[in-house]
Amino acid sequence: QTIYLSDYQPFGFIVDSVHLTFRLAPTATRVISRIAFRPNPAAQSRDFFLHGEQLSLIDAKLDGAAVSPELTPTGLRLDVPDAPFVFETEVEISPETNTALEGLYMSNGMYCTQCEAEGFRKITYYPDRPDVMSVFTVRIEGDLPVLLSNGNPVAQGDGWAEWHDPWPKPAYLFALVGGELLNHPDTFTTKSGKPVELNIWVRPGDEDKCAFGMEALKKSMKWDEDVYGREYDLDIFNIVAVDDFNMGAMENKGLNIFNSSCVLASPDTSTDMNFERIEAIIAHEYFHNWTGNRITCRDWFQLCLKEGLTVFRDSQFTADMRSAPVKRISDVIQLRARQFREDNGPLAHPVRPESFVEINNFYTATVYEKGAELIGMLKTLVGDEAYENALNLYFDRHDGDAATIEDWLQVFEDATGRDLSQFKRWYSQAGTPRLSVSEEYADGTYTLTFRQSTPPTPSQPVKDPRVIPIAVGLLNPNGDEVVPTTVLEMTEAEQSFAFDGLAVRPVPSILRGFSAPVILQRDTTNEERAFLLAHDTDPFNKWESGRALARDGLLHMIRDSAAPDMAYLEALTAVVRDDAQDPAFRALAMGLPSQDDLAQALVDLGEIPDPQAIWQALETLRQATAQHMQDLLPRIYAQYQVDAPFQPDAEQSGARALANAALALLSRLDGGAQAQKQYDAADNMTQQLAAFGCLLSAGKGQAATKAFYERWKHDRLVIDKWFTMQIVQADPDQAADVTAALTQHPDFTMKNPNRFRATLGALAMSPAGFHHASGKGYALLADWLIQLDPLNPQTTARMCSAFETWRRYDADRQALIATQLDRILEIDTLSRDTREMVERIRKA
Ligand code: ARG
Ligand code: ZN
Repeated sequence: QTIYLSDYQPFGFIVDSVHLTFRLAPTATRVISRIAFRPNPAAQSRDFFLHGEQLSLIDAKLDGAAVSPELTPTGLRLDVPDAPFVFETEVEISPETNTALEGLYMSNGMYCTQCEAEGFRKITYYPDRPDVMSVFTVRIEGDLPVLLSNGNPVAQGDGWAEWHDPWPKPAYLFALVGGELLNHPDTFTTKSGKPVELNIWVRPGDEDKCAFGMEALKKSMKWDEDVYGREYDLDIFNIVAVDDFNMGAMENKGLNIFNSSCVLASPDTSTDMNFERIEAIIAHEYFHNWTGNRITCRDWFQLCLKEGLTVFRDSQFTADMRSAPVKRISDVIQLRARQFREDNGPLAHPVRPESFVEINNFYTATVYEKGAELIGMLKTLVGDEAYENALNLYFDRHDGDAATIEDWLQVFEDATGRDLSQFKRWYSQAGTPRLSVSEEYADGTYTLTFRQSTPPTPSQPVKDPRVIPIAVGLLNPNGDEVVPTTVLEMTEAEQSFAFDGLAVRPVPSILRGFSAPVILQRDTTNEERAFLLAHDTDPFNKWESGRALARDGLLHMIRDSAAPDMAYLEALTAVVRDDAQDPAFRALAMGLPSQDDLAQALVDLGEIPDPQAIWQALETLRQATAQHMQDLLPRIYAQYQVDAPFQPDAEQSGARALANAALALLSRLDGGAQAQKQYDAADNMTQQLAAFGCLLSAGKGQAATKAFYERWKHDRLVIDKWFTMQIVQADPDQAADVTAALTQHPDFTMKNPNRFRATLGALAMSPAGFHHASGKGYALLADWLIQLDPLNPQTTARMCSAFETWRRYDADRQALIATQLDRILEIDTLSRDTREMVERIRKA
């Protein structure tokens, strides 16, 4: 049942063409396939096995003659000639009862598909693996006005449409959509002058939420031409919004399918953060057209080849469209919250895993976000120009290929002459390296000595030293920069770097821009952190110094019952007051480390974290901050109100973020009076939701909770926010009860992944509530995972990661969690997805 990277074998046959006919019907869709195969000279085996799951085989033919293949629970097998042949089948499937949302399914009366990674086998019999690429022609028959598939439209009539995709592709990029949809049309002319028809397709009622996504798409198309030299390659590009979707979105060739939460946007219903995320996801899926589709993956172990690179590309895009420092800081906050957490727990795995049971369990922060960090490190190591050359070589050499990480690294070696064999360890070794630093100053020479080590991770007890690019700058005590950013290339377990000609002992700014995904361990003083927060020229490290100051103070409060740290309060106040600094940056500086970050920091100090104590320390610090800034807050709040018409751009959203950070503190002083005013006057969702959160947190949210629901009950995406906000703002003692009550609300349904995540996922994201000493949070989540698993294994399995940190906590909590994990494992019909996750977590 476990699949290994080392077992890779090419498929025994080449697929020359695929012709599919769909006769759509909710519970009895017929899929008729005609596939031309020929023996693959590069393969050893001639085993003709086609994947197929939950299909009713009606009919099979080999070169026109009826055959009876051997059927297994996972596919079919047949004796075939050692020469080209045509294999035809007709199968029946039931999209309406497909609650797993994988393969062909229905969402609010719309037919749609999700095939990555292995969903095509639930549509028809096929070699469902990414290295089998072919040209698809698709005919769709159905009594629906809109019938879409990949590629270009060929012909259509009443109740049917035909599509042809000229670009060979693996089956995971297949897509089909059918429904009563409206389009938001536009056009784009590529740099070589080719016109492309663009559409965003939505259900009636959502047509006024497409304009922003369309602009984001056009910007993405232009950016990929300008920055990577990549042009679009079909006559038409379609995006479809679907309400029931397991993930964010999917890059199917020429027909991207989106979770409606990741494409629909309007000022009334979307926050600034929603807008930014939607822009990034549209870019991400569009960029996959080259990094993923034109060059795909040989097998699913190579997933980071397309995902790491595409996440890196979408981060570059957002940095260019908005503020680069703000994007970098936000990405690192996310990386630490999700990827470091994964890397430090039982689910730790390499960026390129070497085995899996269920590939859907490996669409992780490690593969995506750490995968993107590896691309960033490569670029830092080789430089911008060499990176560009390497990418051009990659596109030239591998266009049309199903490639590997070896291919990718070879391109960089050939383009730069560098040996990347040590760098490759980043792809195979799991775990976050710890980087400790010591320093020395004598006779004008300043020496930094670094030591790297990575704790053991499941099945990887010992780690070898990695190549770590460490960006460093040095400042004089008067605040001048004496050594601008220099990249030190660490390759040994321990290594020193000297800087000479320094008249005074400098203050180091280490790991600028977060140049490597490591945990920097350095003993330093509050004064030095405050100095860097005030003077560092590197915006990331400026922010990081403030963050470290906050973290140290909080740890001191938690461990020694200390009072809030005055050095932090003073330094933060100076930043917040300074109108010369970017408001978005100041809003980020006002953020505090997450409960989860603090829990992990305590573990690193050899302590058992108490989630309630962590929550309490954060509350105390927020209260102290509000009091410390009481004169400043009303000024900031008033000054950063936006009077101009709403724009979801970097400038306005930065101002709103700062004003709303001030509002959150003000609400601790005025009991929510200002928040109530903002709530009543708000004419956009950013303002309304921020005020709603403040009211709930101040215990004054009852009226707003009612009013918000009445105002938005017709809008699923806004009601998701309503569910989440009540849970994340609940007192930790009540969070599980609030969640339980909301699961009884008429609008709760576990069949919609967004609503399930908005409710149970929100509880899982609230550590003090989820880890309540009574165990009620654990029991509630387990109850719902058990109920959801038979319907939707993918979403169930993902949410099991709520338990991944369990070994950090005290014996009582561990026992409570073990009971829930064992209760889940006892179910013998448990899905493969969920079983793999819970077993990996339980084993730790
Ligand atoms: N390739 C998609 C993206 O990165 C995600 C698809 C995830 N699918 C899955 N079954 N896990 O945008
Ligand atoms: Zn992707």
